Amino acid sequence: MINLKYTHIKSINKTDLDELMPLLVKADAKIRNKNGEGAEYTGWIDLPVNYDKEEFARIKSAAKRIRTNSDVLLVIGIGGSYLGARAVIEFLYSSYYNQTKKDSPEIYFIGNSFSGDELNQVISLCEGKRVSVNVISKSGTTTESAIAFRFVRKYLEGRYTKEELKERIYTTTDKKSGALKTLADEEGYESFVIPDDIGGRFSVLTAVGLLPIAVSGADIDALMEGAAACRENLFADNLYNNAYTYALLRNAFLKKGKFVEVLASYDPSFRFMGEWFKQLFGESEGKQKKGILPASVIFSTDLHSLGQFIQDGSPVLFETVCRQSVSAKNPVVPNDEKNTDKLNYLAGETMDSINNKAFLGTLLAHADGGTETIIVEYSEKNEFSLGELIYFFFIACAASGYILGVNPFDQPGVEAYKKNMFALLGKPGSEERKAELEKKLTLFDI
Ligand code: PA5
Repeated sequence: MINLKYTHIKSINKTDLDELMPLLVKADAKIRNKNGEGAEYTGWIDLPVNYDKEEFARIKSAAKRIRTNSDVLLVIGIGGSYLGARAVIEFLYSSYYNQTKKDSPEIYFIGNSFSGDELNQVISLCEGKRVSVNVISKSGTTTESAIAFRFVRKYLEGRYTKEELKERIYTTTDKKSGALKTLADEEGYESFVIPDDIGGRFSVLTAVGLLPIAVSGADIDALMEGAAACRENLFADNLYNNAYTYALLRNAFLKKGKFVEVLASYDPSFRFMGEWFKQLFGESEGKQKKGILPASVIFSTDLHSLGQFIQDGSPVLFETVCRQSVSAKNPVVPNDEKNTDKLNYLAGETMDSINNKAFLGTLLAHADGGTETIIVEYSEKNEFSLGELIYFFFIACAASGYILGVNPFDQPGVEAYKKNMFALLGKPGSEERKAELEKKLTLFDI
């Protein structure tokens, strides 16, 4: 169950929310009827109860094979083609997954930058280990991941025969088109499908996320069940569901000039959920010169950096804290006879209860500083709760985007840098643009 707590927020009242209600009514109809802007990308809405069971079984058996025949899984993908999987794995096992995992392959995410150093480092980590690869790209042509895959293929071709590679390379891409699909068909790699009607940032519950997640040993059935339970609850609560209320609150804050949302968690394992959240809301809402800039922090870590700005800087922020409602099993602060550090007043307290006091203290301090906080609570750190949380954010994002007046499912802005980069790299067919851009660049001091 995902809880939303917001009645402590002073700067937004019932009238502010009521004013947005007509827009929510329209947003709700677009979501339920799947007939709003970007309707062709709303396959994620029913996915938790309407997914391809045969494909799901294939994902599980591929994951089992990888867990048996590999020490390392390289996951190649960028944006929606890696953030969800990484977020889930780190949320469940922490960023120390590769060091603490038992009987599961190490998992490295590459192809999400143009860093040659990173590529070299990860490839060197594969030496002497049995390696499998999951290359993920809906378009099948994204340059960062395509180049990384070329490097990795060359490396693996030096270690395995063509036949062996069929057991080690898995592609997740469009069912018919794209260079990756062609390559998979030609080479005989096992291929998983990203449904046409699900965009990258909404794809974590498809093979895109599920295969790497299953390789980590996580229970993908429970993840889907959590998403399905959340879907049922949200739609049963009609307009007054928590995801819609969160969407209304975000838009009410925006109307009051709060155009930055800081997603905060007091659990370092949530760091990549923050990255996933930023992509989800940033790409869905940041268009037509509109939107809320999503940022993310981990507290108390970032209370010692961005905390100063959140407390006291330009008053453009609101905060959303994601927290676990059930107390975590945590170590207890030991007693120390000498008590030189004067910490014995905390002896016997769990780290979790100290963290909770940090949360409460910060909540009050930030409210005093003018930064108010929406609280989103999930029950526990497990697959089911995470499935719920993911689906909650999906629905909130769709509703929030429609209330804002944008198409939440396209990302026209992502194309701009690519066109320039291709031209500057000399991609055939972009000669004219290359000359134009190079002329423009002479005005820059670089
Ligand atoms: O959400 C999106 O659509 C994007 O962020 C994509 O996931 C990202 O650009 C990667 O695209 P592709 O999966 O086609 O390689």
